[in-house]
Amino acid sequence: MNMGDRVGEFAFFDYEPGEADMASEVIEGLKGEPKQISPKYFYDQRGSELFEAITELEEYYLTRTELGLFEAHLDEVASLLGDNLCVVEYGSGSSLKIRKLLEAVTPNAYVPIDISQEHLKANAQRLYEDYPWLRVYPVCADFSQPLTLPAVTDGLRKVGFFPGSSIGNFEPSAACQFLTNVHSELGSGGALLIGVDRKKPVEILVDAYNDAKGVTAEFNLNVLSHLNARLRATFDIQQFDHDARYNEHDGCIQMFLRSRTDQVVEVDGQPVRFDLDEELHTENSYKFHPEEFLAIAAEAGFKQTRQWTDEQDWFALFLLEAL
Ligand code: AVJ
Repeated sequence: MNMGDRVGEFAFFDYEPGEADMASEVIEGLKGEPKQISPKYFYDQRGSELFEAITELEEYYLTRTELGLFEAHLDEVASLLGDNLCVVEYGSGSSLKIRKLLEAVTPNAYVPIDISQEHLKANAQRLYEDYPWLRVYPVCADFSQPLTLPAVTDGLRKVGFFPGSSIGNFEPSAACQFLTNVHSELGSGGALLIGVDRKKPVEILVDAYNDAKGVTAEFNLNVLSHLNARLRATFDIQQFDHDARYNEHDGCIQMFLRSRTDQVVEVDGQPVRFDLDEELHTENSYKFHPEEFLAIAAEAGFKQTRQWTDEQDWFALFLLEAL
């Protein structure tokens, strides 16, 4: 085939949850004890930019370590996968990672799934332009909920892609539920390429979420600006501090925003009270022994095809098969 010929296709599928869903979910979390919010709300335009900046930080070893594993092993991934593929990306994140994967495995179709419509459309459009041989079907949806892949991808073998240790955002039980949903979306015979951050000395983990330049602090605080914009909330971000610490018992980094004062904030017209030093829990980032992760994956119906890790044993890349 002449690679200059356009055989690709582009179609957008919108399952984006409405404002009402977001307001009730956020307010329920803010009224909880302790207060919490889903980390999916980090990713407005600014949040996505700040996350991109985090991935370039010296302390944030995850991205460069995973990219090193891609560099070393994607050719082998491609030969294990074969042809007639549809890559399904859960969360359209770093364009660098997906480009490396698409170039290595040359699938027929690519389905990025993301909650942020602008980000998703722009990224998908760019990939569609750069890879004329690729069919691109972006789906705007909350990927943590079950969904149905566009019927245009029927007949292609599905390859799920979930890099960056985003799986660490879920509680272990929710991770298993998510992987179960992914299993049913990929179908039996499908494959999943997933990056997982490993347990390691606490200082390394804590530094990765408390960088010297304060980018992670800004990323954490930005969730409040996002709520101000989307839900007419009245957070003053000067009145909150970033905190990130390792919970040994649960094996996860936990991020919080701590109130610097007694204050009442309005969210979608409703008052929310914060005491001095009260914390809003914004994120968990679970770290796994490879066997811990494989046990969860097995419960969701996945079996390991191969596993790769870096020489420091900091990050693991798994190729799994959906049974
Ligand atoms: C995108 C969820 C993998 O947990 O390391 C980075 C998000 N939070 N710094 C992570 C994040 C703070 C990141 N994940």
